[in-house]
Amino acid sequence: MKKTSYSPGINYKPNLNRLCSLEDWNNDEFKKIINELQNPTYKTYIQKKDWKTSDKKIPSMRKPGLIHRKDWEWTLGIIAMKRFNKLNDKCTAIGIGSGREEVLFYLANHLKHVYATDIYDRKKWDNVAQSDFPDNPKKYAPFPYKEDALTVLRMDGTKLEFPSETFDIAFSFSSIEHFGGKDHSGSLKSMKEIERVLKPGGIAVIATEYIINDKDHPEFFNKKTIYSDLIDKLDSLKLVEPLDLRITTKTLDTVLDFTEVVKRDRDHSFRKTHPHILLRVRSLLVTSVMLVLQKK
Ligand SMILES: C[S@@+](CC[C@H](N)C(=O)[O-])C[C@H]1O[C@@H](n2cnc3c(N)ncnc32)[C@H](O)[C@@H]1O
Repeated sequence: MKKTSYSPGINYKPNLNRLCSLEDWNNDEFKKIINELQNPTYKTYIQKKDWKTSDKKIPSMRKPGLIHRKDWEWTLGIIAMKRFNKLNDKCTAIGIGSGREEVLFYLANHLKHVYATDIYDRKKWDNVAQSDFPDNPKKYAPFPYKEDALTVLRMDGTKLEFPSETFDIAFSFSSIEHFGGKDHSGSLKSMKEIERVLKPGGIAVIATEYIINDKDHPEFFNKKTIYSDLIDKLDSLKLVEPLDLRITTKTLDTVLDFTEVVKRDRDHSFRKTHPHILLRVRSLLVTSVMLVLQKK
């Protein structure tokens, strides 16, 4: 593994298509956006008093200073939207498998309109995709947002109920890998739908889960399947830059056992000293990969 590791140096302009790395939390462009996203805390959620006790177990809620790859996915996604001049009030976006992710409210404040889609059935995803979210997103809003710029819809990510060439941006953060099927066919179906609903020149900002030690998995991708099951099967959607699948040396040193992560989810001092970037899930070493593609 050490053979493929590297260090990005300092003050780098972040590449878009690559794995999550610990160093990003020291990068100025990253720091600025992460601070904006982490500003809300449990105490500042708009309607937290309405939450039922069971809803308070919200694993993705992070306090400022905690290092978590979910913030990386959102932050690099925002950087990509900015870099392609899409983060403005002329652009419309669709989120796929969006759950109740906090970044939706940030995007609603910066874009013309955001359509968040997800199946929103509580069976498996009850902490991230509450079934009342489509009817009352405000209940989960971490900060005030343009309420008329966010529409939440129950929709299968493999069958997007929109006409072709509708959106400037499609985004999805760690969701497509869970869409089922053999050889990641659910992920591919969703990417084909994304390809269809994007306008020419539109961008897809897709974070998914990636195995760095080459094992096979029905959901997570590895260095072969990310190409063979996904990227190589798209037609007009092309990576905006080469995909760098190296992991930094410092990130390798952060590996955390997934059972420990679950056990210590509410332990703030543990989370403060243990960046949540690279997880050992049984024999797999898993992190996030970002794919930014543009429709030709
Ligand atoms: C790991 S969660 C990520 C949620 C959200 N993107 C976030 O970052 O918090 C995976 C999401 O995929 C959604 N999902 C699963 N199958 C789906 C499908 N076929 N179509 C749309 N969403 C789906 C789940 O409901 C869940 O919200």
